[in-house]
Amino acid sequence: MSKSCIIYFSRADENYAVGYLKKGNTEVVAEYIRDLTGSKIIKIEPLIPYAKDYHTCIQEAKERQVNHQAPILKEVGDISSYSVIYIGSPVYWGVMPEKMVTALKDLDWTGKIVKPFVTHEGSGLGSIPNQLRSICKNAEIKDGLALQGSMVHSLKSKVENWIEKEK
Ligand SMILES: Cc1cc2nc3c(=O)[nH]c(=O)nc-3n(C[C@H](O)[C@H](O)[C@H](O)COP(=O)(O)O)c2cc1C
Repeated sequence: MSKSCIIYFSRADENYAVGYLKKGNTEVVAEYIRDLTGSKIIKIEPLIPYAKDYHTCIQEAKERQVNHQAPILKEVGDISSYSVIYIGSPVYWGVMPEKMVTALKDLDWTGKIVKPFVTHEGSGLGSIPNQLRSICKNAEIKDGLALQGSMVHSLKSKVENWIEKEK
């Protein structure tokens, strides 16, 4: 079996119209994938955590996006032993949050199979597949999975179907 890992970002705390979450939506999906595939899981953490309240977080995320300034706590490290890499992200203004770009942009993607998954509230995959095609040079970007964030707890079977289909 090919070795795989999951690189993702997810934010807990207050989210739009659902109150405070203990675990972010994308993290729920990342853990489904880990349980179903046995992949190693790597969570991207911002160097400066976001505010817990939704409205301040939106402002902070916008600033980081516009300025392309989103340092992360710890680099991903060596991915050479993984042939399949699941990349998980919430959709922020149609794309990945800037910290995902920081985490992914300097890795060696040659020959990797990339399987994107996102959670969103209406945008679907947005421009994330295109964004990944430009960041993950010489990787094969497979069809992505887009799930509505507020529904993830009832969508495990969709994750299973996607993993089966993309095998
Ligand atoms: C800063 C910010 C920007 C967002 N922009 C979008 C967007 O453009 N399109 C969309 O469908 N959802 C958008 N959302 C909703 C998130 O994508 C959605 O709630 C997602 O499930 C959050 O994932 P997480 O809990 O793993 O962080 C945004 C949320 C935040 C906090």
